[in-house]
Amino acid sequence: MPVIKLPTAIPGPKSRALASRRQNAVPRGLSHATPIYVAKAEGAQIEDVDGNRYIDLAGGIGCLNVGHRREPVLEAIRQQADRFLHTCVQVTPYEGYIRLAERLNALAPGKFAKKTLLVNTGAEAVENAVKIARAHTGRPSIIAFEDAFHGRTMMTLALTSKTHPYKAGFAPFPGEVYRIPYAYCYRCSYSLSYPSCELYCARQLQDTFKRVVANEQVAAVIAEPVLGEGGFVAPPTDFFKILIDICHKHGVLFIADEIQSGFGRTGALFASERYGIEPDIMVTAKSLGGGLPIAAITGRAEIMDAPGPGGLGGTFAGNPLSCEAALAVLDIFERENLLTRADELGEQFQARARKWQRRWPLIGDIRGLGAMQAIELVKSAETREPAPQETKQITQYCYEHGVITITAGTYGNVIRVLVPLVITDAEMEEALGVLESALQSVCEKKGELAQPV
Ligand SMILES: Cc1ncc(COP(=O)(O)O)c(C=O)c1O
Repeated sequence: MPVIKLPTAIPGPKSRALASRRQNAVPRGLSHATPIYVAKAEGAQIEDVDGNRYIDLAGGIGCLNVGHRREPVLEAIRQQADRFLHTCVQVTPYEGYIRLAERLNALAPGKFAKKTLLVNTGAEAVENAVKIARAHTGRPSIIAFEDAFHGRTMMTLALTSKTHPYKAGFAPFPGEVYRIPYAYCYRCSYSLSYPSCELYCARQLQDTFKRVVANEQVAAVIAEPVLGEGGFVAPPTDFFKILIDICHKHGVLFIADEIQSGFGRTGALFASERYGIEPDIMVTAKSLGGGLPIAAITGRAEIMDAPGPGGLGGTFAGNPLSCEAALAVLDIFERENLLTRADELGEQFQARARKWQRRWPLIGDIRGLGAMQAIELVKSAETREPAPQETKQITQYCYEHGVITITAGTYGNVIRVLVPLVITDAEMEEALGVLESALQSVCEKKGELAQPV
């Protein structure tokens, strides 16, 4: 039985009515990937206010790795709601906060002693990681990467790379942020090829300390182990080990932003584990809360203890409902084999995408780690000129035919998969079938002839 059910045109009348109210009530700066308004969601499915049913490949931008409305998460929230909603941890603390910090300290890579600070959002976690790194090292500067995304607050925008729509018009940003190329092999900034490049990009950090910013001024290098917004780029195996070695030689901390790559997405609880690295500080958010807002900064105990009492915190930071939801999420990962499932989903996607690539030159690159998978679309396989218009047409076709997908990439030409890991094989096949029809429809319109598979 197919999941997708579309009794109305998309968007339906109720969604259209809400969109027109939204026009008057909400600023245009908040954009929506789709024009449909949600009524309910379950597992990997979403139903809109007009009764249309979709398969969700976006998971609220990677926040629902354990699925929409998982019962253990709901039950944990209900039980906490019966006890208390908010006291502010800075006024009267509670056990849930401590239990979650203990669990994250035990789970984060590295056998050393760790401590965890809880906050509300990914951007807030990155902000705090920078504060802590500066307090510990007594140094001001942070090195971030091209194509990085770290959030929408002022400091995190300074760290973020993509100009439109994120940074343009919002300057000035906080200073002492320097940027270096990431290991984006499909578009190598040095026009080299892996493995013959011997990861020149990672080794260039040494040169950056000579030519751009003095190492004794640098508090930390911050990197996403797999680029999220930047287009799901997973660097070659040793990229981070080389970077971290150079960092540590100079007393520079390494911060891993696992906000999108964390909690099972890449087939390990954290992508850092897949690279065999132990970040000094790791920031997590998104899928940690199973749908509620919560974020964490987990790091070496002596680093985390650098700011003095009162230097860290926030009114709602680590709120009781979110802590209990996050504990339930961690229980689900302990009980269910979602990490293996992430790898299976990744293989299912890759196998299908490789067939597409043989048929349509529009698909320039297929890449990812575990269930963090994407295709990068190009106008020509030779020039690799990005194809953002076609990318938009494909995602539009998808939601009009019952599949919710989102784009990524500095050039807006990447379609990424952040499907809840509880999706069934049948649901995934159905969703990939729609994505395939979308590619076919757009390629036919472009006059791109399918090659025999
Ligand atoms: C890697 C990464 N860091 C930081 C953020 C910011 O998180 P939030 O939107 O919760 O502030 C995001 C959000 O997409 C992200 O993907």
